[in-house]
Amino acid sequence: MAFPPETHAAAAEIIARYPAGRSRSALLPLLHLVQAEQGFVTTEGVAFCADTLGITQAEVGAVATFYTMYKRRPVGDYLVSVCTNLSCALLGGDEVFARVAERLGIGHDETTPDGSITLEHAECLAACDYAPVMTVNYEFYDQVDPDSAQAIVAGLQAGERPAPTRGGPLCSFAETSRQLAGFADERPEGVAGPGVGEPSVAGLLLAEAAGWRADQAPAPLVATGPPLAGQGTGPASPAPAPASAPTPTPASSERKGN
Ligand code: FES
Repeated sequence: MAFPPETHAAAAEIIARYPAGRSRSALLPLLHLVQAEQGFVTTEGVAFCADTLGITQAEVGAVATFYTMYKRRPVGDYLVSVCTNLSCALLGGDEVFARVAERLGIGHDETTPDGSITLEHAECLAACDYAPVMTVNYEFYDQVDPDSAQAIVAGLQAGERPAPTRGGPLCSFAETSRQLAGFADERPEGVAGPGVGEPSVAGLLLAEAAGWRADQAPAPLVATGPPLAGQGTGPASPAPAPASAPTPTPASSERKGN
């Protein structure tokens, strides 16, 4: 299936955003454009990118197989990504994944038989302040637990589009891919969703309260609560040397230097 003229026009629009002679820099958005058209990075899509940019298919393949956002198998309308990296794992991310997998009847990198939902383990989704998190088509569902995560995928299975915690309303994988290729979300409500929450700006609020500026060394924070156990109110003093610390002998020093 050849790409239609509209796809070639979209590719030209993407390439025009880069300096002359640097068209190969457009490869990343072009790969998203391919996914928007064909659901994953097809062999035909690799050839399209190579021909359009004047590079080899091997170069396109090297990029497409390096980044996990480029899919090598068909993705459903909804890509469900459950973070199981450290912060989320500590707060139950693996159990969230297990319950979602149970609900969908599929495992990592698999798609439901009706082709509608793809599930994947994800590495850190850059939302550790809301752990454990999952995304659907890269829209965030914060601080999920096994029950709420299962309810979200149950909604997808029922043909609904559960509202993400932040950002615009959910759209399809193809629509998301087109946005990732650099084309605006045309829906008026696409930019009307909730913005960042308090956990994301906690550091900013702390810096403001302390009068810190990015171009100045920070003033020390003044503790407002009671001291922690073992914490004095005066300046920190060096820890005493362990009473049993061995004194190096000439013989041991020589061995160390050998
Ligand atoms: S570890 Fe899950 S978002 Fe960072």
